[in-house]
Amino acid sequence: MKQAGNEAQRLNAAGAALEAVRPGMKLGLGSGRTAEAFVSLLGERVRAGLAVAGVPSSERTASLAVAAGIPLISLDDEPKLDLTVDGADEIGPGLALVKGGGGALLREKIVAAASARMIVVADTGKLVDTLGAFPLPIEVVPFGLAATRAAITAAAARLGLSGSLVLRRQGEGIFVTDGGHHIVDASFGRIPDPAALSASLDVIPGVVEHGLFLGFASAAIIGRDDGVEWLSP
Ligand code: A5P
Repeated sequence: MKQAGNEAQRLNAAGAALEAVRPGMKLGLGSGRTAEAFVSLLGERVRAGLAVAGVPSSERTASLAVAAGIPLISLDDEPKLDLTVDGADEIGPGLALVKGGGGALLREKIVAAASARMIVVADTGKLVDTLGAFPLPIEVVPFGLAATRAAITAAAARLGLSGSLVLRRQGEGIFVTDGGHHIVDASFGRIPDPAALSASLDVIPGVVEHGLFLGFASAAIIGRDDGVEWLSP
């Protein structure tokens, strides 16, 4: 599930995020095209002598980081990181985010939560006034899926939200996350109160995590055609 976006803007945002990287930092490495552009540019710096280490938020980012020459560490070795750089599917007021379009939201949230700062890198198409046009990814345990879906529908209805819940597929099969779970994409259209929805989803037993990242982003770098714009919460 991906929006088209703008490659030049993504590259501008990713490049600007390098300004926040200092020697010796332990970095969370996000997932998705913009985060991958950052990993690629960071790799160039590392190969030129910059000493940093990274915790990847997906198996795909791990492979790219290794290929780029970035030393990897794990949160088991280093539970506290200095900075995470990651993309987003939507960026709303206060830098509330929807993430998980690439299916890596669980590890992304763990890595972001372990980081002193999170910088979001994105193209202009990700900025929205209200979250929810992009279907909200909800990571669910395969066991009891129908019951979990019913619980999500009921929780959403209590908040006045409705819309289709689509089990994400990949090719002929069901999409499986790096953690072995499935993803339900919830098309609510508008999420006027993300905090209330987040709290409601958090207490559903079969929900492992969801793509609402509230209070995580310290800054966002929006790539524009001719430069970048830094946003604060
Ligand atoms: C991955 O699971 C997502 O959270 C990505 O961060 C998000 O989909 C943004 O990806 P792009 O940079 O490819 O748009």
